[in-house]
Amino acid sequence: MADNNFDVVVIGAGPGGYVAAIRAAQLGLSTAIVEKRETLGGTCLNVGCIPSKALLHTSHMYHAAHDEFAAMGIKAPRVDLDLKAMMAYKDSVVGDTIKGVDYLMKKNKITRLLGTGSIPAAGQVTVTGADGKAETIQAGNIIIATGSDVTPLPGVEIDEKQIVSSAGALELPKVPKTMAVIGAGVIGLELGSVWSRLGAEVTVIEFLDHVLPGMDAEISKHMQRTLKKQKIGLKLSSKVTGARKSKTSVTLDVEPVAGGDAAQVKADVVLVAVGRRPYTDGLGLEGLGIEPDKGFIPVDARFQTKVPGVYAIGDVIGGAMLAHKAEDEGVVVAEIIAGQSGHIDYDAIPGIVYTWPEAAGVGKTEEQLKEAGIEYNVGKFPFTANARARAMGDTDGFVKVLADKETDRVLGVHILGPAAGDLIQECVLVMEFGGSAEDIARTCHGHPGLPEAVKEAALDAGGRALHI
Ligand code: NAI
Repeated sequence: MADNNFDVVVIGAGPGGYVAAIRAAQLGLSTAIVEKRETLGGTCLNVGCIPSKALLHTSHMYHAAHDEFAAMGIKAPRVDLDLKAMMAYKDSVVGDTIKGVDYLMKKNKITRLLGTGSIPAAGQVTVTGADGKAETIQAGNIIIATGSDVTPLPGVEIDEKQIVSSAGALELPKVPKTMAVIGAGVIGLELGSVWSRLGAEVTVIEFLDHVLPGMDAEISKHMQRTLKKQKIGLKLSSKVTGARKSKTSVTLDVEPVAGGDAAQVKADVVLVAVGRRPYTDGLGLEGLGIEPDKGFIPVDARFQTKVPGVYAIGDVIGGAMLAHKAEDEGVVVAEIIAGQSGHIDYDAIPGIVYTWPEAAGVGKTEEQLKEAGIEYNVGKFPFTANARARAMGDTDGFVKVLADKETDRVLGVHILGPAAGDLIQECVLVMEFGGSAEDIARTCHGHPGLPEAVKEAALDAGGRALHI
């Protein structure tokens, strides 16, 4: 291998790209990764999953100390917020995680190239630095993993100060008195929760008549009740049509989707969280004859674009915009390039919302099963009946197991409750193995533990729950 000639060149060092690079290197392929940000890890590590989870954790701790300790016999008469220190903690979590990725690149002898990657022709990647200097390298195979970017909302221009995206919402210098969140999806509810726990009065404005589109309707309905308990305001079936800024606040025009008079919502800070869109700027797709479909790069079952040797994975190809989905695709595409066969079961990819209680789901929702005409059994178990949840004072929510009526195969599991994001994982594994509700039900679960609620819901699917 010459210095500018690699078996695999990955463009984009988010969770999809850097994992693809590691797997390619593990398989003995000489590998380079091109990234325009100074730090590796993409949106997830720098301005997404990791910093938001750090703030979700710290704000949860603060809120518990403030509002829940007393009932458990812990006296904390003065609980003060030091937002600057909280942000520094978040930044240190991000910094340490990025260092971990740096280490993994070195360990696997992956060449890092700083700059924007473009593809002048199959087999070539040009890396252009911030100073405009460009270098072209040879690439036996190219993996595009350029991810996604914030979807803008016309009339509500993001300035990352008064009107922020998810990135700006992770950096606010003080707790706003009032915050309006546009979009009751994953970002809206997670970051809305953070600032609500820290003391902001939060109102979430959502186009649809429910929160968390795509999740099981019962989870979404229960989440709405939970948000209400947490004093997070919800304006459903409403669309934002414009924003006016003053020095200290933003006024949004909010119209009912069904038509009618616009109302005004005034807030110190507005978070725009109406989705993300694929990011393909500057790649040179036109020159390659690759035509995006609604912005996404079309690929075949092997993640190859119409140009042989040019592959794409992660947010930029569509499907669930989730770091773990991109990672799995990264592994599979590297294995395919190395001549192995790779496979992903898209029905066994969990989706998690890190509010508290958390929401998590895998497989089909009840609505999807009904629509497909598949007959199923439902097993349900509330956390109020789980001893560990009671001991923790965390009884809000339930587990729902959906199993095929005839075969008992698990078709979907949906959880709202404490640590739902961790609890879902045993269900993902069972689904990956094509297991049944009875498989979960007959598996010994440690007592007292939250996973017992999963076992009980699985028992209930067979009509024989023990504790309800
Ligand atoms: P989203 O697609 O989850 O939710 C956007 C929401 O905005 C939808 O409910 C939509 O109906 C609503 N909306 C759209 N236009 C609107 C308008 N004009 N007025 C009012 N409401 C409007 O997108 P979100 O939350 O921005 O997240 C982006 C992506 O990032 C998602 O694919 C999500 O899965 C992913 N993500 C995943 C996380 C996780 O796994 N925990 C955390 C954060 C993001």
